Amino acid sequence: MKFGIGLDWIKITAGTVHNVRNVAEYTLRTLIEAWHLRNVLAKHIRRANTALDFGCGYGRLTFIFYDFANYIVGIDADKSKIEIAKETYKNLPQFRFDVFDGDIPYPDAFFDVILTNTVLQHIEDILPVVEEIKRVAGGLVIIAEETDGKPSPGMYPRPIAEYENLFEPFELVATYPRISYVNGEIVQRGAIMVFHAVEE
Ligand SMILES: C[S@@+](CC[C@H](N)C(=O)[O-])C[C@H]1O[C@@H](n2cnc3c(N)ncnc32)[C@H](O)[C@@H]1O
Repeated sequence: MKFGIGLDWIKITAGTVHNVRNVAEYTLRTLIEAWHLRNVLAKHIRRANTALDFGCGYGRLTFIFYDFANYIVGIDADKSKIEIAKETYKNLPQFRFDVFDGDIPYPDAFFDVILTNTVLQHIEDILPVVEEIKRVAGGLVIIAEETDGKPSPGMYPRPIAEYENLFEPFELVATYPRISYVNGEIVQRGAIMVFHAVEE
């Protein structure tokens, strides 16, 4: 995989954690998550025109679309993270970043592929967000979220069956374990659900 971002990306990663050991751990975690998500993507698409990383944060994983799509959008509710993403990706014209204020500023069925990675699990009132994602979905929707455990403030794991209901009438075409790296070990954290958009 060509990253196309290089040292800027590492600097941003380093800036978001607080000590040297964590920088190494966090960088490795991000690369492992990116590698795994990218492999899932590659199983389902060869090339897309448009891609959306919904809840992209500061663009930690948005680069996985680098060699898959021509027009790549990251969107997040946190303006400060979007500013960091814009700075990180400023030399890559195929990437653009927008603040999410309830509307995704694109037409219906605009995106060939959409990713959420650990975003929906943090949203309690999820219905309006899911409806907006469904509205702009025109192909694959890849939902990588925590699916086990009890809800707590700021954390709302939902089982796969609940995501299937939420994304109806989209078809769930595959599921994979979501892989992360914690305390030196590769661990499973939730699921990657691959939906296919079906017009309502
Ligand atoms: C755990 S971070 C994941 C960021 C990114 N997907 C990643 O994997 O690095 C969760 C992100 O979801 C964003 N978020 C939370 N609620 C949101 C909402 N209602 N709409 C859009 N983004 C939201 C947060 O600002 C945050 O950047």
